[in-house]
Amino acid sequence: MTPSEWRDKLFQIKDAFLKDIGGVSPENLDALEIRYLGRKGELSILLRELKDFPIEERKSLGQDGNSIKTEMESLLAGKKSSLSPIKTQAASGGKTGIDVTLPGYPFLKGSIHPISFTVNKLAEVFMRLGFTIADGPHIEDDYHNFEALNIPQCHPSRDAQDTFYLAMKDSQANNLLLRTHTSPVQIRTMMKHKPPLRIISPGRVFRRDALDASHSFVFHQIEGFYVDRNVGMADLKWTMEAFIKELFGSDTRLRFRPSYFPFVEPGAEVDMTCVFCRGRGNRSAAVPNEKCPVCKGSGWLEMLGAGVIHPNVLKACSMDPVQWSGFAFGAGIERFAMLLFEIRDMRIFYENDLRILKQL
Ligand code: DAH
Repeated sequence: MTPSEWRDKLFQIKDAFLKDIGGVSPENLDALEIRYLGRKGELSILLRELKDFPIEERKSLGQDGNSIKTEMESLLAGKKSSLSPIKTQAASGGKTGIDVTLPGYPFLKGSIHPISFTVNKLAEVFMRLGFTIADGPHIEDDYHNFEALNIPQCHPSRDAQDTFYLAMKDSQANNLLLRTHTSPVQIRTMMKHKPPLRIISPGRVFRRDALDASHSFVFHQIEGFYVDRNVGMADLKWTMEAFIKELFGSDTRLRFRPSYFPFVEPGAEVDMTCVFCRGRGNRSAAVPNEKCPVCKGSGWLEMLGAGVIHPNVLKACSMDPVQWSGFAFGAGIERFAMLLFEIRDMRIFYENDLRILKQL
C-alpha cells in the first residue's frame, strides 16, 4: 500500500463510521465499537500497517490516523451517553425516561455531634425539672464575667494568662473578653427577670489553655440556677441527685465536698460514683490491685461546682438577699460527653473526623 492509498483508506473508514453511528441503535453500539475500534477493528488494523512505511511518512500519516481515532472515540462516547436514557425509557416501557423500578440513590443522613447530643440530653433532664434555657453572648465584659459574680480584682482567673481579652482601640471597650465560663448568664438573666427563676444555659466558653487530652482553649459548659424564696443547699442537693441519677442510673451516689467559688456561699464540688468501676476503685473485682483508669482508684469522679448564690451576686442584680435566695451550679459538658461515650481524649470532639461523627 502506498502512503496515499493508506490515507484514502483512513478517510473511507471514517466516512463509513460516521454513516453507521448516525443510525445506530442502543443494542448495536458495542458491536460498532468492536468493528471499528476493537483490537481487530478496521481502524486498528490500518494503524498497525503504519510500521511498514519509512519514518518520515509514518510521522504525518500517524498524526492523521490518531486524530481520526480520537474523533471517533469521542463520537462514540457521546453517543453512548445520549442513548442511555433511551435504554432506560425502553426498559420502563413508558415515555418518561424514568424507570420507577430502579433502586433510588441513597441519601446520606446527617448526624449529631456528640457535644450537641450531650447538651440536648442534659437540657432534656432539666426541662423536665421545670428549668428553661437562656443564652448569653460569647463576648462579655469584665462586669458580667467577673465583677458582678463577686470575683475579686486580684483573682487569678482575671489574668491575661488565663483570659482572652479583646484588643480594642476604643478605651471604653477595653474590658471586653471572651467569656471564661457560663456564669455571666446568671447575671444577665437576674438583671432582666424577676424570680422565681429556674434557668439552664449551655454554651461555649474560652480560656487560654494549651490543647491536650483534657484541656482546650474553647470548650462547653452548662450553668444552672434557681432563685426563689427560701431556696437553699437542700434544694441544690435534691436537684443534683435527680439530674445525675437520671443520666447515669439510679444507683449512682453523689458526694458534696466543701469548696470555694466567689459567687456562692457555701460552695461545693460535687462528685459522683465512678461510672467505670461503679465506685470500687479497681479495674475489676477479679483484679483488686489494679486501679480503675477513669477515677484513678478513688471510686469518685468530680462532676461540677455548685453552691448557694452569694448575697453580693444577688445585690449586683438588684435583688434583695433577705427576700430572695438561690442555688447555682456549673459543669463542663465535655466531661459528661467523655463519660457517656467512653472517650478518653477530648481533642476528638474538635477534629470532626467523619468516622466519629457518623456514629450518632
Ligand atoms: N463558673 C465555674 C467555673 O467555670 C463553675 C461554677 C462553680 C459555676 C460553682 C457555678 C457554681 O454556678 O456555683 O469553673
